[in-house]
Amino acid sequence: MKKGGAWRPQLMKDIMVMSKSRARPPLKRPTWIIALVCIVCVFLVSAYFYPPQSSTTCYLFSSPNCAGMFGRTPPSPVRELTDDETASAVVVKEILKTPPLQSKNPKIAFMFLTPGTLPFEELWENFFQGHEDKFSVYVHASKQQPIHVSRYFVDRDIHSEQMPLIINNQVVWGKFSMVEAEKRLLANALLDPDNQHFVLLSDSCVPLHSFDYVYNYLMYTNVSFIDCFVDPGPHGTGRYSEHMMPEVEKSDFRKGSQWFTMKRQHAIVMMADSLYYTKFKLHCRPNMEGRNCYSDEHYLPTFFRMKDPGGLANWSVTFVDWSEGKWHPRAFRTQDVTYDLLRNITSIADSTHVTSDEKKTLLSTPCMWNGMKRPCFLFARKFYPETLGKLMHLFSNYTKV
Ligand SMILES: *[C@@H]1O[C@H](CO)[C@@H](O)[C@H](O)[C@H]1NC(C)=O
Ligand SMILES: *[C@@H]1O[C@H](CO)[C@@H](O)[C@H](O)[C@H]1NC(C)=O
Ligand SMILES: *[C@@H]1O[C@H](CO)[C@@H](O)[C@H](O)[C@H]1NC(C)=O
Ligand SMILES: *[C@@H]1O[C@H](CO)[C@@H](O)[C@H](O)[C@H]1NC(C)=O
Repeated sequence: MKKGGAWRPQLMKDIMVMSKSRARPPLKRPTWIIALVCIVCVFLVSAYFYPPQSSTTCYLFSSPNCAGMFGRTPPSPVRELTDDETASAVVVKEILKTPPLQSKNPKIAFMFLTPGTLPFEELWENFFQGHEDKFSVYVHASKQQPIHVSRYFVDRDIHSEQMPLIINNQVVWGKFSMVEAEKRLLANALLDPDNQHFVLLSDSCVPLHSFDYVYNYLMYTNVSFIDCFVDPGPHGTGRYSEHMMPEVEKSDFRKGSQWFTMKRQHAIVMMADSLYYTKFKLHCRPNMEGRNCYSDEHYLPTFFRMKDPGGLANWSVTFVDWSEGKWHPRAFRTQDVTYDLLRNITSIADSTHVTSDEKKTLLSTPCMWNGMKRPCFLFARKFYPETLGKLMHLFSNYTKV
C-alpha cells in the first residue's frame, strides 16, 4: 500500500507557496533562498524514496493535511495477491499476449479418453481418411490396453509408466485423476508443434460432420470451446468449498461439461498452471465435507473464465442429451440411431444449460462462431457400441452438409 502517495502533491504546493511568499520581499538574499529550497528538496526526495513509517515526517513538515491523511484507512478494499497468484498472473498474461507459432502444416489433435478399446475406430477411420497430414490421434486408456483395428490408432497410446503407483494411475470417472489424464494427453499432444487445436473425446463419441467441416470450424476461430456457465444449484456452486479461497471465490466458480476443444495457447496456459490445479485437486473431490465435487466439470471452466473469459465460446461442441433428466445422459441404442436423429442434432444452433436448483432455469444462448450463428455441435455422445454398423451406414449421408 502506498500510504504516502496522496499527500505529497499538496505538500509540494505548500512548500512552493511558502518559498514564493518568502522569495519576494528579501530579494537581496538569494543564497539563503537557494539553500532553503535545497534542504526542502532533499527532504522531499528522501520522503519519496523512504516513505514515512510513522508520523514523524508529518511533524517535520507540519502540513495541515498530513494528520488527516495518516488517520485515514487505505481507500481501496482490493485484496493483495499472494506471491503465487502474482507469478501465475504474469505467466498467463505473457502466454496470452504471445501469438502462437504459426505452423506450416497445422493439425488438430484428437485425444481419446477411454477405459479400454474404442468401439468406434472404424467410424473415425472413415472420418479421417484422406486427411492424413491434418490430424494426429492420441489415446489414453485407463483400465485396459486397447485393441486397435484402425491404422490411425495403432501406436498412438499414451503411456504413463512414469507414475510409480499404477493403481492410482487409473482414471476413475469423476475423480481428479480425470483432469490429470486430460493434462497428460494435452502435454503429449503439445510435443508436436504442428498441433494447433486439441479435441478431447470419449470412447462413446462419434463425429457429426465431415473432416473438413470440423477442421475449418475449429481452426478458423480464436476461441476454445470450453463449456462454462453459472449453476447456482447443488450440482454447481453448491459444490464449491471455501478452502479454495482466496484464489477462487464462490462467485468465480463455474460449471461445464469436460469435453472441450482448446487452442494451443490455452493448452500451454493449462500446462503452466499449478496454483489453481492444486486448489481443485485438494478441494474439489468427491465426498468432501459431505459434498461431491467433480474437478473435471469445474476446474477448466472456472480457471479459464478467470484468466481469459473472452477466449471462451462457453459451450462444448460435443452434444449430449440430458433431456431425460436422469443422473446420466441418454445413451443411444441402434433403434434410436436414424438419419432424422443425426439431422436434428446437427441442426441445433442454441446452446442450452439447465440449473440444478429448484427453479431449473433453462439458459439458452445462440452458438456464435466468429460473430455468425452456426450449428453448435461437431461430435455427439453417448452411443452404445452396438450402433457402429448403423452409424457407418449413415455416415456419408449425414456428414454431407
Ligand atoms: C485471430 O487472431 C489473429 C491474431 O490476433 C487475427 O489475425 C485473426 O484475424 C483472428 N481470427 C479470427 C477468426 O478472429
Ligand atoms: C463467454 O462468456 C464470457 C463471460 O462469462 C464472455 O466474456 C465471452 O464473451 C463469452 N464468449 C462468447 C463467445 O460469447
Ligand atoms: C427431430 O426433431 C423434430 C422436430 O423437433 C421432432 O419432431 C422429431 O421427433 C425429432 N426426431 C428425432 C429422431 O429425434
Ligand atoms: C442417403 O441419402 C439419399 C438421398 O438423400 C437417400 O436416397 C438414401 O436413402 C440415404 N441413405 C440412407 C442410408 O439413409
